[in-house]
Order: sequence, then structure tokens, then C-alpha cells
Amino acid sequence: MNVRARTSAMVLAAALAATPLLAAPADTVRARVDNYRELGAAFKGVNDGLRGSEVQTVLIAQSVRQIRNASRGQYEWFPAGSGPQSGAKTRAKAEIWSQPAKFKGAQDAFAKAADDLQRAVTAKDVAAIRLSAQKLGGTCKACHDAFRAPEH
Ligand code: HEC
Repeated sequence: MNVRARTSAMVLAAALAATPLLAAPADTVRARVDNYRELGAAFKGVNDGLRGSEVQTVLIAQSVRQIRNASRGQYEWFPAGSGPQSGAKTRAKAEIWSQPAKFKGAQDAFAKAADDLQRAVTAKDVAAIRLSAQKLGGTCKACHDAFRAPEH
């Protein structure tokens, strides 16, 4: 391979690696489930931080930062072709792709709740943190009820 051919092969490989749409559906699902497990752990961090007599502000702040990052990132987690029709083992329902406006509504509700929670943390307002965390949990559940299939 001459230098130019090798360079373009490398450029192509880099482009393929960076493009989630071209990833195998099973890899996309695995990455998505990993992201959600991290999100679940972060949400647990918030609730653990709120338990007990002494509120754990560092744990809560760290967990909420993660939740907020996830609420931004989630918009990239469902590329076309990563649903149940792909044959990959996923609990993502086909409605995510057949009712995109409704699904985006669920994503936006989660993102807004994450922003509200971040604001409460910044304000160091424990009562508001508690309430916002509860509301955030409601947006997880609402999306799961509509768009996540039961465990098989
Ligand atoms: C907009 C929709 C939506 C929102 C909001 C959402 N989820 Fe999910 N979640 C899903 C879908 C869809 C899956 C299934 C992904 C798959 O299997 O490909 C999932 C999967 C998960 C999983 C992985 C379970 C497993 O298979 O191990 C966890 C944990 C999770 N979500 C927790 C949360 C938590 C905690 C929140 C809120 C802080 C949340 N989710 C918010 C849609 C959502």
C-alpha cells in the first residue's frame, strides 16, 4: 500500500469508528445499556446522598453532573437500526422510532428535570433537591412505561 492509500484507509477507519450509525446494532445496544446502567448508578448516588441525617453534598453534586451529561447524551443513543427489528437483544421498543415526537417529548422531560435538579444543587436547597430528584425519577418511569419492553 502506498502512503496515500494507507492514509485514506486510516481516515476511513477513523470515520467508521466515529460514526455510531455504522456500528453493529449489538454494539450500539451494549453501549446504550452501559450508559443507562451508569445513569442508574448516578441516580442511586443522589438518593443515597439524600438518605440519613447528613446530606452528602459531594456525592450528590457528582451524581447530578453525570445525570445531566446523560440527559444531553441520550439524544445520540438511539440511531436508526438499533431497535428490536435489528435482531439485537434490546428492550428498546419499536415505538421509539415509529413515534419519534412522543419519544423526544420523554427525552426532553428527562433533560428538563435534570436541569431543574442541577439548579437545586447549585442553590444548595435540600428540599428542592429532594423534590427535583423525585420528579426526575418520574421521568425515568414515564419513558420506561412507554418505550421500554419488559425484561425477557
Ligand atoms: C426517554 C426514555 C428514557 C428515559 C428518560 C430513561 N430511560 Fe432508562 N431506558 C430506556 C430504554 C429504551 C431502555 C432500554 C435500552 C435497551 O435495552 O436498548 C432503558 C434502560 C435502562 C436501564 C438498563 C436496564 C438493563 O437492561 O440493565 C437502566 C438501569 C435505566 N434505563 C435507568 C434509567 C434511569 C435511572 C433513568 C432516569 C434517571 C432513565 N433510565 C431514564 C429509556 C429511558
